[in-house]
Amino acid sequence: MTESVQSSASRVVVVTGAASGIGLATARRFAATGDTVVMLDVDAERLGREAAVLGALSFVVDVRNGESITATFTAIAAQVGSVDVLVNNAGIGVAADLLSSTWDDWQRTFDVNVHSMFHTCRAVLPGMLDRGAGIIVNTASVAGLVGIRDRAAYCTSKSAVIGFTRTLTADYAHRGIRANAVCPGTVATEWIGKILATAEDPVAKRLSMEQRQLDGQMGRPEEVAAAIWFLASPDGRFANGSAMVIDGGWTAM
Ligand SMILES: NC(=O)c1ccc[n+]([C@@H]2O[C@H](COP(=O)([O-])OP(=O)(O)OC[C@H]3O[C@@H](n4cnc5c(N)ncnc54)[C@H](O)[C@@H]3O)[C@@H](O)[C@H]2O)c1
Repeated sequence: MTESVQSSASRVVVVTGAASGIGLATARRFAATGDTVVMLDVDAERLGREAAVLGALSFVVDVRNGESITATFTAIAAQVGSVDVLVNNAGIGVAADLLSSTWDDWQRTFDVNVHSMFHTCRAVLPGMLDRGAGIIVNTASVAGLVGIRDRAAYCTSKSAVIGFTRTLTADYAHRGIRANAVCPGTVATEWIGKILATAEDPVAKRLSMEQRQLDGQMGRPEEVAAAIWFLASPDGRFANGSAMVIDGGWTAM
């Protein structure tokens, strides 16, 4: 299957977790290059504000709720047509090792980070397969590649995202689907801001988070958005089933 170079100018792109951080930067990036962007998030106030700025369509939806997701994608199809690109980006993390994790922590993390993709991908894949073309980019993390202390559920869920991405490629690449994951290192988003705000020693915590990247700096949401955009672009045609690392060198050693 050949991806049309023109297709990047007029695609319908759905981004989950689009009201903040990496998802918002991704929505901005696709909007800036002429795509029809649909922003999904559970944070109604922020989503409405950011979508208005971009002139994007938006839906308040909790990605843990399969029925809401199905209804949302039905509404998307009715309003803007078939989805060409799906960016599964919504995610949460809980700071706990296995013994201090509650079952609720574990389930909530998997519901948002992994199970949501069961619902969103099943909503878009039939149409993509009918058309013989479709692109899915999943936000994983370096946490899917290496262990991180006190992130038991998070690391396990992000490994699952990488595995899930590979199964999409294994099952559907020959029918025109490209699925890839991105694995960012620490990125300066609101998420990280909240972790720092509640840290016992925010200065030391920031330093330790910065130093995980080999150049001592956190990534910027726009840098991850650029990687997602590339994977979804015709130039990314040869990438399929990959877990693209964009981590300032964290996992290089
Ligand atoms: N920031 C980092 O250092 C970093 C590193 C690697 C991977 N990631 C991944 O990037 C993704 C985005 O993270 P971020 O740092 O931009 O976080 P963020 O908290 O700034 O943004 C996450 C967005 O997801 C939304 N969201 C959360 N739960 C939701 C739900 N149930 N339904 C719908 N929307 C929901 C939030 O409202 C928020 O707008 C996540 O998957 C995260 O695991 C982040």
